[in-house]
Amino acid sequence: MIAEVDVVFVMNTLLKLRRVFGHLKLANRGIFLEAGSGPGKNVYVAALTHSWQRCVGIDMRQSFTDHATRLKLRFDDDTCSFLTEKQRQERDNDSIDFVCGNFFDTDLLVTASVVYVDLTCMPSDPLRRFTNMLDDLATAAVVITLTRPLDTSKFFLLWTDPHVATSWGTTTAFIYERKPPTGDDDDDDDDDHNVHDE
Ligand SMILES: C[S@@+](CC[C@H](N)C(=O)[O-])C[C@H]1O[C@@H](n2cnc3c(N)ncnc32)[C@H](O)[C@@H]1O
Repeated sequence: MIAEVDVVFVMNTLLKLRRVFGHLKLANRGIFLEAGSGPGKNVYVAALTHSWQRCVGIDMRQSFTDHATRLKLRFDDDTCSFLTEKQRQERDNDSIDFVCGNFFDTDLLVTASVVYVDLTCMPSDPLRRFTNMLDDLATAAVVITLTRPLDTSKFFLLWTDPHVATSWGTTTAFIYERKPPTGDDDDDDDDDHNVHDE
């Protein structure tokens, strides 16, 4: 069985971002991206939490992205029937999709306003490369990591959650926000924009 996080953690984290930290505003629908989305349930939970412009999972295993895509019918017919009329109107269920591929090879990652990634099994070298990619996210973009923190000065740590339930026990989550660019940023240029500005 694949190692999985308790979806309650994903939902509570996104709700806390909206209610306490002011992210996930309807005026800026944003992009949720899960890097290594496995069977896809976290993406569906994220889709219930906010009206994303796009809510996307990337996984290198075709069987997972196929499975996750097949769940869409059940999500539309069953899960969404529990939403209020207003919630249904606010949500665009066509925004959910799953991409089969290597998240190191896609520019999609840096378009996200919220990235969720389980770093439990990622070795140090790929983790460094992944962290460097995240540095290109827009100001105020959020990164939620499981088990391992990010070693970067370009993010604020918003909070940690040391009691996240998973299929293998409990672990710690780290929730970050991309800082505004400074003179030290290599990429401190015109395309550095604020995800709250749109
Ligand atoms: C520990 S599982 C977590 C699955 C999911 N996040 C969950 O909580 O249910 C990690 C997933 O990441 C995927 N993965 C690992 N490295 C990847 C990469 N470089 N690109 C795309 N997917 C990757 C694996 O195929 C696996 O499905």
